[in-house]
Amino acid sequence: MYDLVICNAAIAHPDGTTHTGDIACQNGRIAKIDNLISAPSHEHIDAAGQLLIPGVIDPQVHFREPGATDKEDLESGSRAAVRGGVTSFLEMPNCNPPTTDQQQLDWKLARAAATSTANFGFFIGATSDNLEALNSVNPACGIKIFMGSSTGNLLVDEQEALDRIFGDGQRLIAVHAEDETRIQARTRAMLAQEETTDYGLHSQIRDPQTALIATERALALSEKYGRRLHILHLSTSEEVARLRRHKPEQVTCEVIPNHLFLDTDDYGKLGSRAQMNPPIRSPDNATDLWRGLHQGVIDIIATDHAPHTLEEKTQPYPKSPSGMPGVETSLPLMLTAMQAGQCTLAEVQQWMCSGPARVYGIKNKGHLAEDFDADLTLVDIKTTRPVRDEEVFSRAGWSPYAGRELTGWPSYTIVGGQVVFDNGRIRPGVFGKALEFQAP
Ligand code: DOR
Repeated sequence: MYDLVICNAAIAHPDGTTHTGDIACQNGRIAKIDNLISAPSHEHIDAAGQLLIPGVIDPQVHFREPGATDKEDLESGSRAAVRGGVTSFLEMPNCNPPTTDQQQLDWKLARAAATSTANFGFFIGATSDNLEALNSVNPACGIKIFMGSSTGNLLVDEQEALDRIFGDGQRLIAVHAEDETRIQARTRAMLAQEETTDYGLHSQIRDPQTALIATERALALSEKYGRRLHILHLSTSEEVARLRRHKPEQVTCEVIPNHLFLDTDDYGKLGSRAQMNPPIRSPDNATDLWRGLHQGVIDIIATDHAPHTLEEKTQPYPKSPSGMPGVETSLPLMLTAMQAGQCTLAEVQQWMCSGPARVYGIKNKGHLAEDFDADLTLVDIKTTRPVRDEEVFSRAGWSPYAGRELTGWPSYTIVGGQVVFDNGRIRPGVFGKALEFQAP
């Protein structure tokens, strides 16, 4: 007796072709994929007309627990994740207190085990004096360095401290690459009044050079020490061109949907809702980021899901916090783009499923194949529905994409062979597991 059989689904292959067939899950794994599975099962889903892909892995989210659970916590963030077809997430350390030692990491792992509907992994945050913890904590998907300031108080921008971190250890280092000195200098020079509602100024202060300088610096450190480096949320044409010229073997990078689907013209409509770090850019940057993805210069897609309440967001700049929710709209946005001919099903799977598993060494995930973990996303690929703030699962309660018509919404999300999201509803009592990471 299987735990779950999904019948008549269009099962996606890595090359983007599909075949209509059945898939059986048992003990958390994909037990069988066949044209017809007639053995009995505890649960049976008729998926005729729907697309089955590996569960999406979102390798960059901020779920605010501990410290700001009025915006999100591991439970609400993971519920938003599974609504968006995301079955595993990697969460950032800039909560309060920040995740900078084993004790804080253990606390989050225990909390996630008890409340998260999706599988989970956590970054350890770098400070200028926690080198020992950076190399000893477990399990962690990588070290996060904020080279430029953002939400929270994690920041390492002194050369000596960066050399120490890059020079000692093997664990993957993921960087938020914005140059702090330039941010400070441009803020002083350009923010004429104490506050303003011209939120577009944010993109001018943190200009493309601000990102490029820090990206160059991280690349130089990675080359100097041969250190595994992942550059988070590339946002500029300049960074793509730089990495196209030379991307060392030990370097990977990502882009987030906000830099593909929003641009500086959106400040007019969205105001501070569109404010994030690194900031949204002029439209030509998105064109280059898409090209970077297609050419394999950019490896994967993350969301940088960064929930803030609308009340905080409506404050004038620079009090307005940076970040937008995104974990539940990334897959529908990408599937809509796919159906508009902007990318292929093979690329979507590569960028959002198998790619993140490869980049972070996540075992047994990212593919629809027998013996892989049964983390699955079934998608209604035909129905077009608008994003609506009222329907958002994130505690933030809003989306920068409100009003956009998207085609390709998850109908069922399955974590470890158990249905957790079922046509708009979360099934109670289903929890994800801690992810395991292979050393680089
Ligand atoms: O806009 C952002 N918000 N960028 C980050 O790097 C952090 C994030 C947050 O945590 O709010």
